[in-house]
This record gives sequence, C-alpha cells and structure tokens, in this order.
Amino acid sequence: MNVSDSERVATSLAGKGYEITRDEKAADVVLINTCSVREKAEQKLYSRVGRIRHSDGPKPVVGVLGCVAQLEGETLFKKIEGIDFVLGTKAVGRISQAIEHSLENGAGYSDLGEREPDYDWNVADAQRHSPYVAFVPIIEGCNKFCTYCIVPFSRGREVSLTASTIIRNVLELRRQGVKEIHLIGQNVNSYRPLSDAGLEGFAGATPFAKLLRAVAGTGIERIKFNTSFPRDFHPDIVDAIEENENLCNWVHLPVQSGSDKVLRAMRRGHTIQSYFKKIDRLKSSTRDISLSTDIIVGFPGETDSDFLDSVKMVEYCGFDSAYIFKYSPRPGTPAYEMNDDIAPETKAERFLALESVFRKRQTEVLQRYRSSTLQVLAEKSSAKSATDLTGHSTCHKVVNFKGSKELLGNVVNVSIFDIKSNSLFGELC
Ligand code: 5AD
Ligand code: SF4
Repeated sequence: MNVSDSERVATSLAGKGYEITRDEKAADVVLINTCSVREKAEQKLYSRVGRIRHSDGPKPVVGVLGCVAQLEGETLFKKIEGIDFVLGTKAVGRISQAIEHSLENGAGYSDLGEREPDYDWNVADAQRHSPYVAFVPIIEGCNKFCTYCIVPFSRGREVSLTASTIIRNVLELRRQGVKEIHLIGQNVNSYRPLSDAGLEGFAGATPFAKLLRAVAGTGIERIKFNTSFPRDFHPDIVDAIEENENLCNWVHLPVQSGSDKVLRAMRRGHTIQSYFKKIDRLKSSTRDISLSTDIIVGFPGETDSDFLDSVKMVEYCGFDSAYIFKYSPRPGTPAYEMNDDIAPETKAERFLALESVFRKRQTEVLQRYRSSTLQVLAEKSSAKSATDLTGHSTCHKVVNFKGSKELLGNVVNVSIFDIKSNSLFGELC
C-alpha cells in the first residue's frame, strides 16, 4: 500500500514539474512516507529526520506522509525537530500545496483532510517500481477493527472505487505495456462499491468475485490481488480463478492465530475451522494456488496451548510463505488496553519455534515445484549476475534463471531445478 502511495505522490509531483531524485543529498524536498502497522515507526522517523538535519549543506524541506502523519498530526512538530509539514493518508493529492506552503512560509503546515472526489489513482509509467507491474487500488481503509491493528485509525473507513474506474485504469495500463497488475486494498474481498457501474453483466457471489471476472475480461496478462480477509473470502473467488487463466495462482489470507480463543480476542471474525474450510477449497482447486499468510505470536493471553494451536494450524495449512510477527501494542488500539502479559523472551521463543515449524513444512510443500514448469514474468536483470534474470511466477515466487535482456517484459516458461525458501532457480524451457 505504501509503495503504491509513494508512486502516486511521485506521479502528482512529476506532473507539476518537480524532478524526482532518490539522492537525498541532492533534494530540495525530502518526503518520508511512514507505516506504523508493525515497526517502531516513530523512532525510525526520529532518526531519519535527525540524519537530514545534521547533514552538511543546505537543508531541504522535510515532509512526513502516511500513517504516522495521520495519527500524530501536528504533535509531530513538537516531538521531532526538523519537520516542515505533515500530510495525512487521504491528503496526499494536495502534496504540491504542502510543499509550496512550506517553501513560502517555513515549518508548521499540516493537512489531515479528506481525499478530494476527483483524486487521480493512476500512476505514471515513469514512477512505477517496474515498467511491467502496476498496483491498482480498489478499496481503501478498513472497517474490521481487529483489536491489535492501527490501520482503521490511520486509514479510515472502507471506500471502494467503482469498477468502471478500476477497469479504465487496467485498460490504460495494458495499453502502456503493463503485464501484471495487483488489485490492492487492506481487504480486497470486502470490495463493495456504491454503484454497480462496470459490473453489469458479470456473474459473482460477491462484488469482489464480479470485479475479478470483469478485470479478467480486460485481457491484461496477469492479475494478482491482496490482501484477502478470511471472513469475507467467498469460495466463488476460487471459481473465478479457475475460470480465468489470467487470474494468478496466489492467495494471501492472513490467519493471525490458530486458537479460537485468541482469534476472538483479536476480533478477527473467523474461527479456525472456518479458515480451514477456505484453505481446503483453495487446496482442492484445479489450479495449484500458492498460499501465504500473516501470523502474530504472543498476543495478550496467548497460552502455551493457544500457541500449540498455531503450530498445528501451520502444519495443517502448508503455506508457501508466512510472515510471522511478535505482537507489539499499538497506542490507540483496543488491545493496547489489554495486559501485554507475554514476556518478550516468550514472544521471541514462540516466534523462533513457529518459524522453524513453518520452514520445515515449507520445505516440504515447495518440493512440488521441483522439475515443474512455471510461467515467469521476466522483470529485471538479477543483482547478482549480469546473465541472470529475475521475476515472479504466477504463484508469486521469485524465480531466477539465465536469460538475455531481450526477454524482459515477457512471460516465459521456466523449468525449476533448485528451491530456496525465498526464491526458486530454474532454466528457460
Ligand atoms: N503487532 C504485531 N503484528 C501486527 N500486525 C498488525 N498489527 C500488529 C501488531 N500490533 C501484523 C498482522 C497483519 C500484518 C500486516 O501486520 O499480522 O496482518
Ligand atoms: Fe488491520 Fe484487521 Fe483491518 Fe487487516 S482487517 S487492516 S488486520 S483491522
């Protein structure tokens, strides 16, 4: 989400005549896009701004964007010296006004206002992280209020873009030569636009399932989507994938815990059995859908037996990848009021134990790719070797293979001969 936000800010500034540089020392304006979902975001921001303030040469204008900006607002000026302006998560469309105001009037400008109705969600070709892959936001915000999570507070309520806007964006990206799009949102499958515009005539048990079929109909080569919310994950999504070759073999479905008691305390809205049912449907698909997830260990009140349920869950599901986090309290969330009673050493132990169970299981499940042929989008030359290319498979694995630069931007068949936990190695068929 944050990469996509940064790309749109860069697009908007480039359109106003600003030149984008990644060289901090050469910049007249430095923008820091913050994320406070997990990390010690404020401390990071503090040291980043400190570094800019203490570096030699003329001082750039410093603007803070993203979740920390939205949550802290003007208090950031008091907490961290050296910030000129603060721009909330929905105010990014007014970035140039914030910069101009700061250049003219100095520090102290903040805008935490709403998104403008005609906000442009498109990203210019030059500002994308890849010429062949583009993010397409379909829903912003979150209504779920999981008790540990800051997102509903930093990003506000769910608002879906109309399907006609999304489809227009996808068609334009296709025209520009983009091969793979990622439909993105905190919970893509909670997609619920105010009007049916663009979805007329498309079948689907939910608006998201209809949207998938509508986007597949644009003919764009590959479509991925994330993140999915388990409670709203309707089996018709799997049907849509099976019907459309360009819907890719990858679903990211964060489970968070294997214990019903912890899931209830997290207010996730799903039980472990209901989650397993969705996993079973995905695993029994005619397509080889790769599964990834997020898991939190050490949530308040998590007993050894609850943790063991998470271990069993990981063994049952056989994820291709899993992001495991140690619970950390976020001020302002309901869980912040709970007793953070799991000792840091226990959190660390559980983290390592679960990671080790996951790695073992992952080694087993990834074997199915050995000697298989995967369709890989050749995205860039490998950082390690000039003769190697790297890209993602339809199942969203990083795949490295020998190949010439002329292949960049093409989907090629790669036969897999080696498997590492974070990437696969293969040769062109
Ligand atoms: N502590 C630990 N992990 C968290 N996540 C979100 N909030 C917290 C928190 N307070 C994790 C969840 C989520 C992922 C994006 O970050 O697993 O799915
Ligand atoms: Fe956070 Fe839960 Fe919303 Fe995901 S669904 S963004 S974890 S509140």
